[in-house]
Amino acid sequence: MKIKGKTGTIKDKILENLILNRGKYVSGEMLASEHSVSRAAIWKHVQALRDEGYMIKSSTKEGYTIVGSPDVLAPAEIKAGLKTRMMGKNIHYFKETESTNILARDMAGSVEEGTVVIAESQTGGRGRMGRKWISPEGGIWLSVVLKPRMQPLHAPRITLLAGVAVAKTIREFGLPAKIKWPNDVLINGKKVCGILTEIGAEMDSIQYVVVGVGIDANVDTETFPEEFRDTSTSLKNELGCDINRVEFVQKLLVELEALYLKFQNEGFTSIIEEWRMMSATIGEWVKITTQSRIMYGEAVGVDSDGALILETGEGRLEKIVAGNCEHLRR
Ligand code: BTN
Repeated sequence: MKIKGKTGTIKDKILENLILNRGKYVSGEMLASEHSVSRAAIWKHVQALRDEGYMIKSSTKEGYTIVGSPDVLAPAEIKAGLKTRMMGKNIHYFKETESTNILARDMAGSVEEGTVVIAESQTGGRGRMGRKWISPEGGIWLSVVLKPRMQPLHAPRITLLAGVAVAKTIREFGLPAKIKWPNDVLINGKKVCGILTEIGAEMDSIQYVVVGVGIDANVDTETFPEEFRDTSTSLKNELGCDINRVEFVQKLLVELEALYLKFQNEGFTSIIEEWRMMSATIGEWVKITTQSRIMYGEAVGVDSDGALILETGEGRLEKIVAGNCEHLRR
């Protein structure tokens, strides 16, 4: 008999087998024959999993059953029961790394579309406009490699699409997520997620897009640096309890894949419509800082590429393709 389970090292596969058979015992003999190793080797892998914090009960007659997992974003946990076709089929996991975006960019040329790089913490997390992104344990720091067939000038569409996916996922957890142009996800006006999209391209074709998503999930807001405490929040702070990060990542990958496939099959129209519905920026008075100037006005819409339409004090309409947006109080 085949036991459910997919890819990874033998230890990962055993973990996946146990997770997919939660509530039941899986015999050591069956695991041994499935992975073509001895029962003693299976026992050693189970011991290693226990050392990592997995609670695995064993019975001489029945085998092994998993009764508890540590709060880690292990690929085997994420893949178990993941309902996607390509998003997250390959996951590269790091306890700590400099930046998942850097790793994803480095491997982009040689990996399949939908490959995910995920880390428990980042030492050199990168934010937009050259800023640092603080990434302690408890957050969700991941990057996805995509290979869309489109012109580089349309790449911002992928960022907006990712913002919609994150906001929809957060809403599934009962929180009123909105999107601040271009790509911050807010809850009750405070930032909970940032997205950094980086592309590799030739003159008129994209080789890869790396979508980096940073979510303050189970992070205590008291640990935020002073200057962010009034403007940022975490899922834990909003919910009053920890979230299941594995479940969050699984749902996010499902949303991302659904929107990405829709984008490829039907175009961007319905996605930008969803973005508009969840926008925290449209209708706000804003300050826009671009590389060359500062502008004030009312955000009146976004165009089909996701550029912000600003009505300035003089009644002129300006289209802003990239920049920093600050919501001002009227
Ligand atoms: C922003 O400035 O709002 C964007 C922040 C993006 C942070 C994420 S965390 C995962 C990925 N790796 C990085 O180094 N940055 C992105």
